[in-house]
Amino acid sequence: MNKKGFIFDLDGVIVDTAKYHFLAWKQLAKSIGIDFNHEQNEQLKGVSRVRSLEKILEWGNKEISRDQFMALMSRKNDEYLSYISKMNDSEILPDVSKMLDFLINKQQPISLGSASKNARQILKKVSLLEKFNAIVDGNDVSKAKPDPEVFLTAAKVLEIETKDCIVFEDSVAGVKAANSANMISIGIGDKDVLREANYIFSDFTEISEDFIEQLINK
Ligand code: BG6
Ligand code: MG
Repeated sequence: MNKKGFIFDLDGVIVDTAKYHFLAWKQLAKSIGIDFNHEQNEQLKGVSRVRSLEKILEWGNKEISRDQFMALMSRKNDEYLSYISKMNDSEILPDVSKMLDFLINKQQPISLGSASKNARQILKKVSLLEKFNAIVDGNDVSKAKPDPEVFLTAAKVLEIETKDCIVFEDSVAGVKAANSANMISIGIGDKDVLREANYIFSDFTEISEDFIEQLINK
């Protein structure tokens, strides 16, 4: 049987945590007198914690010391983790579990490819950790999406050539990263936002088993 590498982003693809990142950043930004809108928030999706704070400070034209920077990062994460602590498997996005089981049944290698340093903790919370052959997350890479490092590392761990990897992403930065890794990018979300993706679906309920089989047999 043909084997492809299926790489899943976490936040906004597997679980509905993008909203918690938004709330936590919004609250933190407000505490230092900065506001940002939903459009700007799209630019934070997929982007590392460090890079996100840098962007917010740029938007607010604010310069702070390194110590303050570190303190704000940890405050944001504490706030984010307070949302995560209440999570359970009801926050797995529609048909994600079905897709994972379908791929496992077809003996396809599956990896996580996430910028988050909280990835393992979240997957454990929603009882999905065991479904993955590999976990590549924010602890394993030094370059944030749109750099392709996270996906190239996942391909290496799965031992699948990059051209045979398929990436599910909800962020502009992540779609760019998948494209520059020379992988097939599947955008999950808004067509207008994710227009650079090779394929776009609103969510996994729109992706048919036939479509996945065709990808596997290509
Ligand atoms: C990405 C999210 O998956 O992970 C970003 O889309 C987030 O919003 C990034 O900043 C880093 O996550 P964490 O959990 O390490 O702060
Ligand atoms: Mg995401």
